[in-house]
Amino acid sequence: MYNDSENRIIAPEYSAEDSETELSLRPKSLSEYIGQEKVKENMKVYIDAARMRGEGLDHVLLYGPPGLGKTTLAGIIANEMGVSIRVTSGPAIEKQGDLAALLTNLNEGDVLFIDEVHRLNRSVEEVLYPAMEDSALDIIIGKGPSARSIRLELPNFTLVGATTRAGQLSAPLRDRFGVVCRLEIYTPEELVQIVRRSSRILGIVIDESGAVEIAARSRGTPRIANRLLKRARDFAQVIGDGVIDHKNAKRALDRMEIDKLGLDSVDRLLLTAMINNYNGGPVGLDTIAAAIGEESITIEDVYEPYLMQIGFLSRTPRGRVVTPAGYRHLGIQMPDQQTLF
Ligand code: ADE
Repeated sequence: MYNDSENRIIAPEYSAEDSETELSLRPKSLSEYIGQEKVKENMKVYIDAARMRGEGLDHVLLYGPPGLGKTTLAGIIANEMGVSIRVTSGPAIEKQGDLAALLTNLNEGDVLFIDEVHRLNRSVEEVLYPAMEDSALDIIIGKGPSARSIRLELPNFTLVGATTRAGQLSAPLRDRFGVVCRLEIYTPEELVQIVRRSSRILGIVIDESGAVEIAARSRGTPRIANRLLKRARDFAQVIGDGVIDHKNAKRALDRMEIDKLGLDSVDRLLLTAMINNYNGGPVGLDTIAAAIGEESITIEDVYEPYLMQIGFLSRTPRGRVVTPAGYRHLGIQMPDQQTLF
């Protein structure tokens, strides 16, 4: 079955089109950053304390669903510490030598940001441990019996790791992060503020009711809110009067088939396939994936978190189940045996 998840407007992953605007929309300081109050307050203390002592910041692990601002926060940490940031990702560091090259090019105090840090391979992780703990790089020279290890001093640096799956991090790596922060889904009020701020920066005219409408359908995710804002601007410009008011926002979102709760056609396809083909579940992840022509891991990482968060889908030991609220949202009557259950 055809589906279009690669081009999904509400995919929380970063896409090429986000890049030009996301850079200009990214807050540069903690005071500009909206939401994540607990993380911000604590982070401010750790940064202030490290600066007062004239030391580098301890290693930081940021985890939580995609699109909530982990990369942005890493940039802010570097900025507030007054150091540079090097950005890379777990899968990009293939060999020990790749990591060694990154580490030896850092300056004192710099931030090394590794996105998807749970995808580092084991041999690369082994180089990271002494680097994180002792600012040292152990290099093996030669092969066989004459091989010997020499230790190189590295500058002190702060590793900021980001992951959507803290559970997949190996224990030795997890234990080496002194600061662990969980990012939460944003409230509608915070998203309204983010949409208004982005509109100001991009020169988009929007009123409160337009911002509220976009915020409500953004799945608690700033990256999605910013993307919907740009598309709503297109609709307002071409078939409206250029202003994103409630009517124009609603029309744009309806045209994009994003419903009141932010579900798109793929979410609805997933739920209806479970209902029509498997009586609403329980049904296994791989079976759902085959039914809608999608990869299991994508369903798990991208679609399910929000559907579970709004209580439309639950995970049971026997498989996934569409909840009564899920049926109600789709306007489908629940079969009797499930109503009893
Ligand atoms: N843009 C994306 N995320 C943001 C945030 N948390 N605060 C301000 N602007 C943002």
